[in-house]
Amino acid sequence: MGLLSSVSCWTATISVLVLCWAGVCLGVPDPSVRDHLMQEEVFRQVGGRVLLTEPERRLSERLCELKKQEMAGPQFPPAMHFFKARPFIRRSPIFNLLQKMPKGRAALHIHAASLVDVDWLVKNVTYRPHCYVCFTQDKSVRFRFSTQQPLCQPQCSPWILLETLRRKMGNATDFDHSLVQNFTLFTSDPEAAYPSQEVVWNKFEKTFSAISGLVRHAPVFKDYLYEGLMQLYMDNVMYVELRTELPETYELDGGTHSKSWCLQTYQEVNQKFAAQHPDFLGARVIFTVHRNRSPSQVKEAVQNAISFRKQFPEVMVGFDLVGHEDTGKPLWYFKEALSLPMNMGATLPYFFHAGETDWEGTEVDGNLLDALLFNTSRIGHGFALPHHPVAKELSRKMGVPIELCPISNQVLKLVSDLRNHPAAVLMSEGHPLVVSSDDPSMFGSTGLSYDFYEAFVGIGGMKSHLGTLKELAINSLRYSSLSPQQKEEALALWQKKWDKFVCENL
Ligand SMILES: *[C@@H]1O[C@H](CO)[C@@H](O)[C@H](O)[C@H]1NC(C)=O
Ligand SMILES: *[C@@H]1O[C@H](CO)[C@@H](O)[C@H](O)[C@H]1NC(C)=O
Ligand SMILES: *[C@@H]1O[C@H](CO)[C@@H](O)[C@H](O)[C@H]1NC(C)=O
Ligand SMILES: *[C@@H]1O[C@H](CO)[C@@H](O)[C@H](O)[C@H]1NC(C)=O
Ligand SMILES: [Zn+2]
Repeated sequence: MGLLSSVSCWTATISVLVLCWAGVCLGVPDPSVRDHLMQEEVFRQVGGRVLLTEPERRLSERLCELKKQEMAGPQFPPAMHFFKARPFIRRSPIFNLLQKMPKGRAALHIHAASLVDVDWLVKNVTYRPHCYVCFTQDKSVRFRFSTQQPLCQPQCSPWILLETLRRKMGNATDFDHSLVQNFTLFTSDPEAAYPSQEVVWNKFEKTFSAISGLVRHAPVFKDYLYEGLMQLYMDNVMYVELRTELPETYELDGGTHSKSWCLQTYQEVNQKFAAQHPDFLGARVIFTVHRNRSPSQVKEAVQNAISFRKQFPEVMVGFDLVGHEDTGKPLWYFKEALSLPMNMGATLPYFFHAGETDWEGTEVDGNLLDALLFNTSRIGHGFALPHHPVAKELSRKMGVPIELCPISNQVLKLVSDLRNHPAAVLMSEGHPLVVSSDDPSMFGSTGLSYDFYEAFVGIGGMKSHLGTLKELAINSLRYSSLSPQQKEEALALWQKKWDKFVCENL
């Protein structure tokens, strides 16, 4: 027990705080009892029982020192909106360490449509030949790659070849910047731009429509995936599970490809990427459907998911419903569709978004319990979980982790100061959880390091230490869809990188 990582930042202070010996100072609570109780709290948190080696303890102490400095500074980034905090985070020595950390960690909650940095979309994709653009009445844009002038779309201006448009402009810097603005939520004054959840979700959905014509072009789709894996790899992520509706992709001549083509492409891009980066374990797919669809459409999607899993067992791992929970239908509304696999004797793991809401006691607030009743493998967000003692207990007993995406929750206006994120409760209780980034390109973050920073510095506060980071990294593999053998190999690979990281950063 003695080597347990009781290295909460305050433990050192506590041990010199022994004011008196038993019985001598009457009226003062017994310091040893106090010590014991504090230890108990330290043990219970995420990472509280992780054994740390001597070098790890030293690195942990260094992190604690850095955290104290960060807290003493004039700006505490987790208390600010991420869009304003980002430059401060980039300068943070803790963030710097987190970037280098072999998170070993897998990214288990990212949407494929928001994987790649928007600058790449503008600078690379919109500069390809045959790219047409039109402007919608609500000041957004649509794209289409085509050898011929595409047919007009309702509510959109006539199509213009981007190449021609840019040539006419002479200097396209401002125009390109306006495209970036169309592709992301990131902006310098988020409070003014997004006064309510409704406004921010509107813009969020609009953004996906704007990039759709770009990323659904078949050759772009392949490069996009490859680029996305590269950006994760550069952030020391070794594995990813991507949520995607498997969009219909198209060719220059207007021909289209089915969802199976997408899965086939995932498989091919994985192989190509792995050949060049043998320490990357690949990308897998959680097939999703929007929660504003009808029960019969969801039923069809579930049926598709079951057959895709048979056809592509290596890449296709499960099913989820996406879209704004508050304005969408609850899981229970789709109960027939969701019981289909069980009734057919088929296996279809679920990875439901649930509890991504501030509204307590509403119909969608029941999603947490329903997700568990449908045997979800993980819970996307679980923001409301601490408000549901029964669901919380169940999720712990069943070993169902929540996928904590702090920046997403802040940008989509569930919480503003991340020190107040409800997952602080779950972290302090050692609840199973993993950290992920949801829609990194929409939020102006890449990979996982920014969300790890917010979870480690903001939500975990002075209590979280290197043991916390270690447990989070291990969790990301433990709760992934990798097979037991793949997990073991992944953990061994991660351990090697981790040890190297610890030694190099003492
Ligand atoms: C865009 O990216 C592709 C694939 O990564 C690369 O081959 C190509 O040269 C890039 N094109 C531009 C214009 O940057
Ligand atoms: C293009 O315009 C931007 C701002 O409008 C300016 O900063 C940039 O220097 C211009 N580039 C050229 C090549 O003139
Ligand atoms: C999207 O791009 C168009 C075309 O440049 C521009 O007029 C519009 O203001 C942009 N929209 C946003 C939200 O920036
Ligand atoms: C969930 O799993 C439990 C235990 O394995 C099983 O009894 C139950 O029928 C499952 N429910 C569904 C909807 O799959
Ligand atoms: Zn999500």
